[in-house]
Amino acid sequence: MRVLSGIQPTGRFHWGNYFGAIRQYIELQHAEQAYYFIANLHALTTVRDPNVLAQLTLDAAIDLLALGLDPDKAVLFCQSDVPEVSELAWILMTGTPMGLLERCHAYKDKKAKGLPAHAGLFTYPVLMAADILIYDSDTVPVGEDQIQHIEVARDIAQSFNHHFGETFVLPKAKILDASAKVPGTDGEKMSKSYNNTLELFDEAKAQRKKIMRITTDSRPVEQPKAPESDHLFLLYSLFASDEERESMAALYRRGGFGYGDVKKALADVAEKYFAEPRARRAELAAHPERIHEILATGAERARRKAREVLNRAQQACGVCS
Ligand code: ADP
Ligand code: TRP
Repeated sequence: MRVLSGIQPTGRFHWGNYFGAIRQYIELQHAEQAYYFIANLHALTTVRDPNVLAQLTLDAAIDLLALGLDPDKAVLFCQSDVPEVSELAWILMTGTPMGLLERCHAYKDKKAKGLPAHAGLFTYPVLMAADILIYDSDTVPVGEDQIQHIEVARDIAQSFNHHFGETFVLPKAKILDASAKVPGTDGEKMSKSYNNTLELFDEAKAQRKKIMRITTDSRPVEQPKAPESDHLFLLYSLFASDEERESMAALYRRGGFGYGDVKKALADVAEKYFAEPRARRAELAAHPERIHEILATGAERARRKAREVLNRAQQACGVCS
């Protein structure tokens, strides 16, 4: 079975990205043949500064490796290093109904807000379908927000197969643990677009500052509180051991403590949790040439498969000399 997923380098990774996606990608690399790529062509629909995009792409690779992605187990590469994908995207676009793309959320939401949309945003799901189909991927681990895109990829594959004969493997979404909805500093879902993120590799002091500014309610210190509905407690639970979580929950139920103490405890556990990846990251970042080498090796492996599937698609639809 081949597992494939992509992650956009549109900002530095935050706790939501890690617990909601990256951690699970890393776990899957042990069980399956895993392909993971940095979706820089998709990111180009939003990041329009060339230096920023290049830096975020390199940072994403360093972060994934520092967090435990093993390039000897998983194939790690950069989307734009496999040009076959863009070629397949065009082939797929010729048979993609406008209506299918008009129903996709990202485009629909932008249009509903009266914002101008580019063709890249409109055809974003077709490039994503090419990303998936070009590696004969069976399983695509994604967050709930991406399910619609996997369905589009299946629709596109099915209608191509129907018209030109069996060519593509039909992919299935593997929904990443929905319980991992990490709250942000304001209690809403953590997301770059809400400006409420805690980054994985922020400088320790800056991170502590951000944690101390997490919004809390104004209940008096002595009043007992329900831990389950408190975002500060939920954040603490991501890092704490079972015992640590239980004793913090007991403290909430008993009352008589300040949120400031919980924030300090949160900063401590988070710092400890990411200490090793942080050290590994510093080592990796000191040798960018090694990162480029890992990405080049990954791209070479990915391209081997991509060429095979693109060739199959070209033969099927008659675009070959
Ligand atoms: P953002 O919302 O910050 O722009 P992305 O959409 O780039 O994040 O997220 C990439 C993946 O990380 C998502 O598909 C999702 O699986 C995961 N993710 C992001 N934020 C969270 C969160 N707060 N809780 C759980 N998972 C998240
Ligand atoms: N659109 C995905 C996201 O924003 C990233 C992505 C691009 C992707 N191509 C993919 C995910 C192919 C899975 C498979 O999260």
